[in-house]
Amino acid sequence: MIKAAITAVGGYVPEYILTNDELSTMVETNDEWITTRTGIKERRILKGEGRGLSEMCVGAANEILKKRGISAEELDLVIVGTITGDYGFPSTSNVVCDKIGAKNAWGFDLSAACSGFIYALATGAQFIETGRYKKVMVIGGDKMSSIIDYTDRATCIIFGDGAGAVLLEPTTEDLGVKDFILKADGAGRNYLCMHAGGSVLPASHETVDKRQHYVYQEGQAVFKFAVKGMADVSAEILEKNNLTSNDIQWLVPHQANKRIVDATASRIGLNEDKIMMNIERYGNTTAGTIPLLLWDYEKQLKKGDNLIISAFGGGFTWGSVWVKWAYDGSKVK
Ligand code: UT7
Repeated sequence: MIKAAITAVGGYVPEYILTNDELSTMVETNDEWITTRTGIKERRILKGEGRGLSEMCVGAANEILKKRGISAEELDLVIVGTITGDYGFPSTSNVVCDKIGAKNAWGFDLSAACSGFIYALATGAQFIETGRYKKVMVIGGDKMSSIIDYTDRATCIIFGDGAGAVLLEPTTEDLGVKDFILKADGAGRNYLCMHAGGSVLPASHETVDKRQHYVYQEGQAVFKFAVKGMADVSAEILEKNNLTSNDIQWLVPHQANKRIVDATASRIGLNEDKIMMNIERYGNTTAGTIPLLLWDYEKQLKKGDNLIISAFGGGFTWGSVWVKWAYDGSKVK
């Protein structure tokens, strides 16, 4: 049976660092509040006119091509999980394929907010498992600074910019994407959404004046759904596959709030040393958090490691993917 193995990882974070202290000069907040409530110390911001999501995706994609020693023309499909694409249309996948020279690939953007990467990973894996494609690139990233209101202290402290990517290739070994459980509940749009700019409320002077092109979030409500959703689905995928916490080497959790991650880890009985975390450096990069974790921890990953990758986000969308890691990260140059 063909499985979809992750054979390379890439990432890109912009150079500008927005610290908690700098945020304290912009809104009524402080480093102590942000750190204790979220675990975030700093986040990256893609500054400068005309710089969009594709720039970060291209950085991540090119790293993969280099590491794997392949040309962009070998790619069959490029999926980009995001809610902050370069344009309303065309898709950021189109732009990325053009910029990296993936002349034989097609692709699309997938909108599932913070679950964008796991939705895209499960989708990409299907094209490999059927035998149709040999090289599928799955990218997750967001330029959240383009939709964040930097006068709203409840949201601006959380989010940052960044993108990461993985390459999927076929394997007949017992490795790769082993299982996934994905969920959705559109009623969540009442708690977390961007009200204007879509077909319900197209951009107008009024929508701009009312600041409706920014992320709207009812933080406490989302927090409660997220804790339950992410913990439950992580436990569910273990149970479904007869796995216990002893079988798992790594929890790879979406980085929205350290307290949500801690609750998920404790629910499935994992110690801190098995949890990938980088929220303190990047904040919540939405679809970017999970591939950026894999990028940061690649060197520590060993062939055969079991990873539980879990996310919860806008939609609501949430889920877990069980991946058996396919290579020794320490050997990657
Ligand atoms: O990734 C997408 C999914 N999103 C999430 O998972 C986010 C889930 N939600 C959260 O992470 C948390 O709800 C937040 C980090 C957004 C907020 O933390 P919280 O512990 O839920 O705070 P809160 O909204 O209950 O506010 C507590 C207090 C309030 O003051 P009062 O009413 O108690 O006087 C807020 O006004 O903290 C105040 N507050 C702040 N104070 C300093 C809210 N934001 C700030 C701030 N600095 N930045």
